[in-house]
Amino acid sequence: MTAAAKPEPTRRDFLYIATGAAATAGAVFAAWPFIDQMNPSSAVLAMASIEADLSAIQPGQQVIFKWRGHPLFVRRRTPKEIAEARAVQVSDLPDPLARNANLSDSAPATDAGRTIKPEWLVLVGVCTHLGCTPTVSTPGSPQGSFGGWLCHCHGSEYDTAGRIRKGPAPQNLAVPPYAFTGPTKIKVG
Ligand code: FES
Repeated sequence: MTAAAKPEPTRRDFLYIATGAAATAGAVFAAWPFIDQMNPSSAVLAMASIEADLSAIQPGQQVIFKWRGHPLFVRRRTPKEIAEARAVQVSDLPDPLARNANLSDSAPATDAGRTIKPEWLVLVGVCTHLGCTPTVSTPGSPQGSFGGWLCHCHGSEYDTAGRIRKGPAPQNLAVPPYAFTGPTKIKVG
């Protein structure tokens, strides 16, 4: 095979950051040496938090952090992705609830109900069917029909607000408790 036959390298929009976000949980464990770290109490889990710097994430790109043992998706949405999410009627959604830990349990799954700042979508990256990690959709590698994520395990498709649109998953991807601590910094948990 000649070099000319090789495809152009493409920018991967799917990055994984396993470490780098200092977990407050570490300090918690140090303060409570008798806690079984393999089975931390709910109080410890409740305090576990990370701070994430989003400044390197480009529009259309997703970075995955790790939070409480789960992937945490942070996607910097493009204006087109935001517009697509906002054009959807809540009445057309399989799950009409926001599933946003920062809002009440009954908050509707409007796009505004899924974000704090429209550009940034922060989600627990766990499919609500049986817990697989969905794959992000990018212009060069579309996943599913709704521009968000596809869970390859059983075909659940999520839109650009992380809402379930098709397949067996019963709920929207969860929005964790988080807050902005700077223009491009968040604290999760
Ligand atoms: S675990 Fe995602 S579709 Fe089944």
